[in-house]
Amino acid sequence: MSATSSIAVAGWGSYVPERVVTNAELELTLDTSDQWITERTGIRERHWVGPGESTATIAIEAGAGAVKDAGLTPSDIDLVIVATTTPDQLIPSTASFVADGLGMTCGSFDLNAACAGFAYSVVVGGSMIAAGGSKNVLVIGAETLSRFINPEDRGTAIIFADGAGAAVLRASEDKGSEAPGLLSWDLGCDGSLASLIEVRGGGSRSPFTADSLMAGDQFIRMQGNEVFRRAVRAVVDSATNVLNGAGLTAADVDLFVPHQANVRIVDAVNSRLGIPMEKTVVNIDRFGNTSAASIPLAIVDAIEAGRLHDGDLVLLSGFGAGMTWASVLMRWGSR
Ligand code: UT7
Repeated sequence: MSATSSIAVAGWGSYVPERVVTNAELELTLDTSDQWITERTGIRERHWVGPGESTATIAIEAGAGAVKDAGLTPSDIDLVIVATTTPDQLIPSTASFVADGLGMTCGSFDLNAACAGFAYSVVVGGSMIAAGGSKNVLVIGAETLSRFINPEDRGTAIIFADGAGAAVLRASEDKGSEAPGLLSWDLGCDGSLASLIEVRGGGSRSPFTADSLMAGDQFIRMQGNEVFRRAVRAVVDSATNVLNGAGLTAADVDLFVPHQANVRIVDAVNSRLGIPMEKTVVNIDRFGNTSAASIPLAIVDAIEAGRLHDGDLVLLSGFGAGMTWASVLMRWGSR
């Protein structure tokens, strides 16, 4: 799909919990090693929430930062989208807690597209602005995956982590041919692959029982190897679709912001797409895999490092449970 309206990214915010969990700390409780984790995933440390924190509390921190950065007040925001696959509760939405914590009573909802959730939310938020329904949309990717991992499962406990990133989208003042906006996007989901990453219990299909809790149905299960294989293909196809949709090639991309799932996935995608590492944001070493939060956390890193400028062509690409995928090609601009 492609769009014509001008969308600016007026402000950014991010937040990670204070608690840092190093690979060395995981070595104490799991049959794993710093060397294995670093070589097989690229992760050196990650942040996990502590007592009193939740997806909503860290989303509020990131969201408040983005609103302030945009030079706005909470009453200026007219839509809140919280991309998360680790909600505070099943009912109500995490967005309810987030909007309340930010002092907002505008439309607010959760969007669960797992690790593709932030890219999905940018498309939904941008489309609401383009349709004339919203003026300032707060889009947040926030996760507390540490609350859903089985501490005895080395396949998930070493990789998943917590964090939040947020953006304020609004109509750009620039209506010219080089105006900022969403040039094209590709959203997908193959539900036949749902069992590759799942939390089986706690929903209507399988409410918790003593037996299901004993079986560990409250935890994330992941067939990591299979996800890895499919993720590379999904991102390459999806990114190619958005580039073709905009009549551009990988050489035109100024900054590639892939979901930070595993540095080896990023390497494999880059070599297939022909995007060099110098044009790619990688921060998985410090944050691990934070699902819907990983792309906004990476964007904030790029902004702080001076790697992102008005007019740049930015490619976002995420994939995850569902199995979902989403790519968005944006012309970057803050006004
Ligand atoms: O966020 C979106 C969705 N998620 C992802 O994209 C994650 C994608 N998957 C991955 O990143 C990787 O599959 C993992 C990091 C989860 C696992 O790495 P892998 O290279 O695919 O490992 P594997 O499951 O193929 O296992 C290879 C070996 C096995 O040992 P044997 O059978 O060869 O002796 C595992 O038992 O590595 C072993 N292993 C470990 N060893 C030490 C698996 N996990 C660990 C571990 N520490 N943490």
